[in-house]
Amino acid sequence: MITPISYASGLTYQNLIKPILFKIDPELVHVHMVRVGQLCGQINIAKQLLQTTYAYKDPMLTQKIAGITFANPIGLAAGFDYEARLTQVLASIGFGFGTVGTITNVAYQGNSRPMLGRLPKSLSLMVNKGFKNEGAKTVVQKLSHLHFPYPVGISVGRTNSLQLKTQKQSITDITSAFRLFEQSNIKHAYYELNISCPNLLGHITFYPPKNLRKLLTEIKKLQLTKPVFIKMPIEKTNKEFESMLDVVTHFPIAGVIIGNLQKNHQDPALDPVEVKKFDRGHFSGKPCWNRSNELITLTHKHYGKKLMIIGCGGVFSAEDAYIKIKLGASLVQLITGMIFEGPQVIGQINQGLVQLLKRDGLNHISEAVGVER
Ligand SMILES: Cc1cc2nc3c(=O)[nH]c(=O)nc-3n(C[C@H](O)[C@H](O)[C@H](O)COP(=O)(O)O)c2cc1C
Repeated sequence: MITPISYASGLTYQNLIKPILFKIDPELVHVHMVRVGQLCGQINIAKQLLQTTYAYKDPMLTQKIAGITFANPIGLAAGFDYEARLTQVLASIGFGFGTVGTITNVAYQGNSRPMLGRLPKSLSLMVNKGFKNEGAKTVVQKLSHLHFPYPVGISVGRTNSLQLKTQKQSITDITSAFRLFEQSNIKHAYYELNISCPNLLGHITFYPPKNLRKLLTEIKKLQLTKPVFIKMPIEKTNKEFESMLDVVTHFPIAGVIIGNLQKNHQDPALDPVEVKKFDRGHFSGKPCWNRSNELITLTHKHYGKKLMIIGCGGVFSAEDAYIKIKLGASLVQLITGMIFEGPQVIGQINQGLVQLLKRDGLNHISEAVGVER
């Protein structure tokens, strides 16, 4: 049962707040929502109020994975907090973990507009930011003095610049960013290595296994002190995906996040009229759902003993999160579901997960991971 206050909050978001927000430029809304979130994170009473209204706790949801304790399996995916402003507030609305970034060695002002668009019928967002971020040094300054109320991850990717002409230059750029974070005092819990952003300039790619091997070889030399999860693409064939996983399993990588945005503008989950409005960018939300689930299934079946899986793409409800968990994901990330459903959805997903576990006679979330294989 959803608590009355959470239910009311959802109704208010759907009927009052969302209709207004969805009339305003999405980038403007994103920037201002993040600023409001940051402000709430600086005020203790606001955090307590949010905690009471939104967060849901249950020991059935707590897991220790890769040495990190996650109070619940629902995390904020990379891309929403690209300015590292929300680490103090997201636990209060119920998230179990959250990723900052993607952050690159050198700052990037973002691709040409539009960087963001809405596809309400497709339950999707068009994303064309191309790693808009302030660069690793600034993020180190912002986060070094903070204590985090939940596990925070830093997503690292290649600087979006045509000046990086070769694979070698790109690898040096990525390892430089990792070095800055390693040498900092940031108390982060994990890294994400984002090799799958579809919106970057130039033709550098880490997809062919030999390119991926070279990148991971150089990253291994850094002897990173935090676990690394690789953010995977979802547009590759099963064979291509497996050959990437073959490489990944030869390196000290804790797991894979499956996965990134939908590149295919013809995906059947995209409303054909809506999608025609965008001649650029790639898509989040429901168009990611099917392929992400197929690849979670494949990964759990063949690599489940070696790689932990974070499921991501199209999660809007507890039922959605539970499906990804039953297919093999130990943790789940989301962005679009929160934007379409409202911030109360995080607590509702956690509460719903506990109900679904009980319905199925399970005592702990870990018992559900991969049961559907
Ligand atoms: C506005 C926006 C920006 C994103 N930026 C990034 C990013 O910088 N790095 C990354 O790894 N993924 C990024 N993504 C992809 C998400 O992390 C996620 O993989 C994808 O949106 C599918 O999840 P969802 O359906 O819950 O949104 C972005 C997604 C959105 C909506």
